[in-house]
Amino acid sequence: MVAMREEGLIGGVGLSNVSLEQYRAARSRTEVACVQNAYNAAQRSDQPVFDSCAADGGPYVPFFPLGSAFAADNPVLGAPAVRRAAGRLGVTPVQVALAWLLALAPNVLLIPGTSSLAHLEENLTAASTTLDQAVLGELEQVQPASWVSIRLKDGASHPAASLPFQAARTHTGPCIATCSARR
Ligand SMILES: NC(=O)c1ccc[n+]([C@@H]2O[C@H](COP(=O)([O-])OP(=O)(O)OC[C@H]3O[C@@H](n4cnc5c(N)ncnc54)[C@H](OP(=O)(O)O)[C@@H]3O)[C@@H](O)[C@H]2O)c1
Repeated sequence: MVAMREEGLIGGVGLSNVSLEQYRAARSRTEVACVQNAYNAAQRSDQPVFDSCAADGGPYVPFFPLGSAFAADNPVLGAPAVRRAAGRLGVTPVQVALAWLLALAPNVLLIPGTSSLAHLEENLTAASTTLDQAVLGELEQVQPASWVSIRLKDGASHPAASLPFQAARTHTGPCIATCSARR
């Protein structure tokens, strides 16, 4: 990838689904344009990479910012602390979940996925949603989720939410063949 960038074939080197060790190894070799790992209010096992990117000033792109489309009982939007905060502030759980990510560090870039124009417009308002210290403290209480499993082509199933994409990182065969909801 470094060679491709130097040849002008790509604009920058971005990483996804990387461990802290992999992130550090990449940074020791080259500039890292951004990191995209799973992270949201109910899924914070990537905190070490998040913190390192914040310290280094490199963009961090949390995927599944709203808890993904895979969970019937969304662990972020359905979290009591998120819903309480939304009710108290007079905003939606989506606005709370996204504003919380933006409040964590200035290097956070959001990519919530949606198939709805109305949802897109709602998601954009998160940029102007301000959370107070009480809400930020309350969101620390959101319980970690363990609701999405990743099934690899060899049939092995791995909990993505409790150990995001560890399977994809360690598996030698094709990875992220399918994602499936587990209730
Ligand atoms: N690098 C990687 O390995 C990786 C892995 C997974 C995902 N990603 C990327 O991360 C991004 C986000 O992932 P994602 O879309 O799977 O998860 P997400 O953003 O956490 O959640 C998307 C889900 O939230 C719903 N939603 C969005 N806005 C909403 C709103 N305002 N109100 C209610 N529901 C709302 C969507 O439904 P509607 O369609 O009905 O709005 C959809 O079901 C995508 O760009 C994806 O490509 C990257």
